[in-house]
Amino acid sequence: MTDSLHWWQTGVIYQIYPRSFQDSNGDGVGDLNGVLQRLDYLQSLNIRTLWFSPIYPSPMHDFGYDVADYCAVHPLFGSLADFDRLLAATHARGMKLVLDLVPNHTSDEHPWFVESRSSRDNPKRDWYIWRDPAPDGGPPNNWLSFFGGPAWTFDEQTQQYYLHQFVKQQPELNYRNPAVLQAMLDAMRFWLERGVDGFRVDVIWLMIKDALLRDEPADPAWDGVNPHASLQHIYSADQPEVHDVIRAMRRLLDSYDDRMMVGEIYLPNDRLMTYYGAALDECHLPFNFQLINAKWDAQTVRRLVDQYEADLPPGGWPNWVMGNHDQHRLATRVGPQQARVANMLLLTLRGTPTCYYGDEIGMENVPIPLDRVQDPPAVNQPEIAHIVGRDPARTPMQWDASPNGGFAPAGVRTWLPLADDYAIRNVAEQERQPTSMLHFFRALTALRASTPALYAGAYAPVDTGVDEVFAYTRSHGDERYLVVLNFGQGNHRLDLRALGERAAIALSTGMLSSGDIRLRQVYITPNEGLLLRLI
Ligand code: GLC
Repeated sequence: MTDSLHWWQTGVIYQIYPRSFQDSNGDGVGDLNGVLQRLDYLQSLNIRTLWFSPIYPSPMHDFGYDVADYCAVHPLFGSLADFDRLLAATHARGMKLVLDLVPNHTSDEHPWFVESRSSRDNPKRDWYIWRDPAPDGGPPNNWLSFFGGPAWTFDEQTQQYYLHQFVKQQPELNYRNPAVLQAMLDAMRFWLERGVDGFRVDVIWLMIKDALLRDEPADPAWDGVNPHASLQHIYSADQPEVHDVIRAMRRLLDSYDDRMMVGEIYLPNDRLMTYYGAALDECHLPFNFQLINAKWDAQTVRRLVDQYEADLPPGGWPNWVMGNHDQHRLATRVGPQQARVANMLLLTLRGTPTCYYGDEIGMENVPIPLDRVQDPPAVNQPEIAHIVGRDPARTPMQWDASPNGGFAPAGVRTWLPLADDYAIRNVAEQERQPTSMLHFFRALTALRASTPALYAGAYAPVDTGVDEVFAYTRSHGDERYLVVLNFGQGNHRLDLRALGERAAIALSTGMLSSGDIRLRQVYITPNEGLLLRLI
């Protein structure tokens, strides 16, 4: 059975935020040649797939998620030739490369939008979502931008509003016009022909809006914090017609050999699962972000894992995400003492794990001085910047103790500041320490990569009798592993004899990797995780 699995099922995905990974030319921003220089490191992490946040030409109002040309590389990151070289080198190491595709909106500097806004009768007018003002001259409806303020901006020249659910420099494309879909498929083809292994598709669940653009109802459960959450997004997101668009994208991928698509979707399970497609003909992986938002306690996490497993459609492959460029850092969310437990969970659950650069060394949110804040939701909404600002999780990778942490040459002003503790928490330092987070991460990914029970086996929860300890087995054929995770601060003795007599220690968060224990008396210390092979 494991032979028939695809690379995107068995391998770990690692997200690179290219601006922050490695600067090779001393401009303070990471680039493709920087990633090339770090390929040995990436390979040493035993990951399979690199996903790059956008590298396309962009005025960078949303740091690359405002694309001005889908078929080129921003000079800041390098050239197409650099890209081809990096892709070839990635493939030569047996790894895959996935690009971010941002089809929901373009930059306002994209030639399509420049044409579209030039006049009401321009042939590309209908490529975007333009509407007359409401009778009072205000926006056509009450929709809100994720980044603060209304989702509409008035264009003086043509006297209409255009829709944007992010910054106003990100006008939204109109997928009710078939020419738009064809143009986006052409952009995908451009990269697929170059050998790209797939796409992470940005805000895929937003790609079609209600045909009537109806007002959205207020959300009575709103906590009063983030204005965008004050409405129920029943017309601006998750519309039934979006599935036709996704199926068309999938058909294109399927016309190539073994490519994949992972969709960015923030929805509850019942809606999320529809993005696999009724005939598993949509996203290979609809991102599952539940671990990011979950309250960090063992019972909550157990319940959500069990529920997700139960809700998956037949044949739908699970996946788990612990962090990305839009969320607070993993080690900040769960606390530094729980970071290893969290990684053990992520890398031993059933399904494809996605890791975020820097989480393998336990990077934390970096406080950004006011004058260096860049991220639009934080700039637009200073009063909730500490909640919605994403800069703190996008800071330069911490490679070594040299000035600028090995990310950029000394003396260069990096685009975001490095963490204060980079001289202590960095790759070089953790290479030297045999029990570091980095070595722990590698041991975990190595085990996962070589153990069918872990990358392909069945999942079953185990009752531990202790609230703060979550345990489960992963089994494949005769091979059975047991994962025991202490989410809390207590010392516990567990009686797990129902699972057998003895178990061998495969790996612990404290870096034990040998010896065996009796299952009738399993001792677990605060913040400890155990990965055991049942014998
Ligand atoms: C996605 C991206 C985020 C971006 C937004 C608009 O949520 O992950 O970084 O700002 O889409 O493209």
